Amino acid sequence: MKNILHIISGLNEDSSFSVKLGNALIEKLKETYPGSEVIVRNLAKEQLPHLQKENLIAFSTPTDNQTKEQFEAVNKSEEAIQQLLDADIIVIGAPMYNFGISSALKAWIDHIARVGVTFRYTENGPEGMVKDKKVYIAMATGGFYSQGEMQSYDFVSPYLKTVLGFLGMTDVEVVLAEGTSINDTKEQAVKKALDVVSV
Ligand SMILES: Cc1cc2nc3c(=O)[nH]c(=O)nc-3n(C[C@H](O)[C@H](O)[C@H](O)COP(=O)(O)O)c2cc1C
Repeated sequence: MKNILHIISGLNEDSSFSVKLGNALIEKLKETYPGSEVIVRNLAKEQLPHLQKENLIAFSTPTDNQTKEQFEAVNKSEEAIQQLLDADIIVIGAPMYNFGISSALKAWIDHIARVGVTFRYTENGPEGMVKDKKVYIAMATGGFYSQGEMQSYDFVSPYLKTVLGFLGMTDVEVVLAEGTSINDTKEQAVKKALDVVSV
């Protein structure tokens, strides 16, 4: 039995390839770990706000001194972090937008990356504090990036691996449904991605 967190950021709801892929991965995980609990956080439906200067001030203000607005701003971050810490397995749906992640997913990352909370600086350098997690990136791209000349245009998987690794999540597997904008390949994109993942 595992606690699974499904982060959704595909805008096309159930027809998003990253959502379909994430759901299929979770079905596999539930077969492997019967009785697992799944929490779904849909960032496309309930977006976290872009960070403002006020958020940064709120993050560094002691709770007792926070205004109501600051408390609410910090609370959004604390809630997202707690969901992350409670999970054993995290499935992150990541559509490629303009070679990078969606702004909704970036806002989530900006809320979970907090110095002193999810990472810290030690005399040996930075240390991630979100440990012992397995992460699957359910990634969807209109074109092809797994090989060939477009590989270096993929700023989704290297970025997510880097930032999650910085926070301590080093066991990250990218599951890629590619060619979703191309008629000849889109039907098979999710199946092909699932064929090569071992859950
Ligand atoms: C705003 C926007 C930007 C996109 N940028 C790219 C891109 O840079 N490269 C690409 O291959 N596909 C791009 N696409 C296509 C998506 O990556 C593709 O539709 C993917 O399946 C989206 O994930 P989803 O199906 O989970 O929503 C873009 C789509 C949108 C809507």
